[in-house]
Amino acid sequence: MIAPNLSHAILGQAKGSIRQMDLENVLQSAFEAVNKGESVLESYFGRVKQIERKHLAGLVTEADKESEFTIAQSLKQSGHDFLFLGEESFQESQSSYLQGRDPVWILDPLDGTTNFVHGFPIFAISLGLYWQGQIVLGIVSAPKMGEHGESYWAIRGKGAFLDNQRLRVRQNVILGDAFLATGFIADFEEQLVEQVDIFNHVVRKARAVRRAGAAAYDLALVARGVFDGYWERGLKPWDSAAGSLLVTEAGGVVQSYRASPYHPLKNTVIAGSLGLVQQIQELIKPVIRADSE
Ligand code: IPD
Ligand code: CA
Ligand code: CA
Repeated sequence: MIAPNLSHAILGQAKGSIRQMDLENVLQSAFEAVNKGESVLESYFGRVKQIERKHLAGLVTEADKESEFTIAQSLKQSGHDFLFLGEESFQESQSSYLQGRDPVWILDPLDGTTNFVHGFPIFAISLGLYWQGQIVLGIVSAPKMGEHGESYWAIRGKGAFLDNQRLRVRQNVILGDAFLATGFIADFEEQLVEQVDIFNHVVRKARAVRRAGAAAYDLALVARGVFDGYWERGLKPWDSAAGSLLVTEAGGVVQSYRASPYHPLKNTVIAGSLGLVQQIQELIKPVIRADSE
C-alpha cells in the first residue's frame, strides 16, 4: 500500500461532533484497514468453504464476513471511529446515516463474491467515506489485479490515483467507439427485463460491453480510462460509494439513468465522461422503467 503524498486536506467547518477533518490522515487509517481485509481475502481465495445464498442479494462467504469484521475493527481502533455501514452488518435503519451530516464509513468487504467463489480474480474491497451529503474519500483495492494488486483511491478535490499515478476518465468518446461495462441482477424479474432491454440497445451501438462482476472495480476502470463508461441498476451504497468518487475526481460524472446527480441510495448509476453519459441516457430513455431514478 502507498502513503499518498498530499498536503493536508482540511475541509471547512462541519456542524456536529467533527469540525475539521484531515482526510490524508483518515486515508492512512482507511488503507491500513483495507490492507488487513485484503490479507483475509488472500487467505480464503481458492479455499472458500461456507457459501450461503442471501435473500435476493447473491452469495456470501466466510471471507466476506471476516473481511468486514477485520476492517471495521481496524477503523474503530484507528481513532476514526465514525458511523459504519457495511454490507454484511447492514440494517435498513442505517440508510438514514446517508441523509445526515456526520461522517459514515461505507464498506463492501468483498465486491465480486461470485467471482471470488469461482476463482475468477476480479474482486475488490471498496471503502468510502460519506460526509455532509457527499463522498469525500474512497479506496477500491483489487488484490489480484496487476503485478502486486491495484489500489485506487481518491480524496474529494485532490484527484483520483492508482497508487501514485493520477487517473483520468477518457474524454470525447462517441458511443460507437466506447468500451463499456455493466452488471445485472437476476433476482428481480422486472428489473432484469429492463437490464436486458438496455443491454440490447447499448450493445448494438457501442464498440463492446463487458460484465466483469465487481461494480467497484468497474468504476475504478472508468476512472482509469480503461472502460469509457459503465451503467447498472440496483447497486447498493457499498458497491458505488468509493468508485463514484474515483470517477468524479478523474474528471468524469456519475449520474442516474434520468440524469440526476449521484447519491449512494439511488437505484441507478451511469458513469463516464459527461458527453458519453448523456449519449447513453438518450439511448436508453425509451426502455427505462418508471421506478428507475
Ligand atoms: C455485486 C457485484 C456485481 C454487481 C452486483 C453487486 P457483491 O456485488 O458488484 O458486479 O453486478 O450488483 O451486488 O455481491 O459481489 O458484493
Ligand atoms: Ca458489491
Ligand atoms: Ca460484497
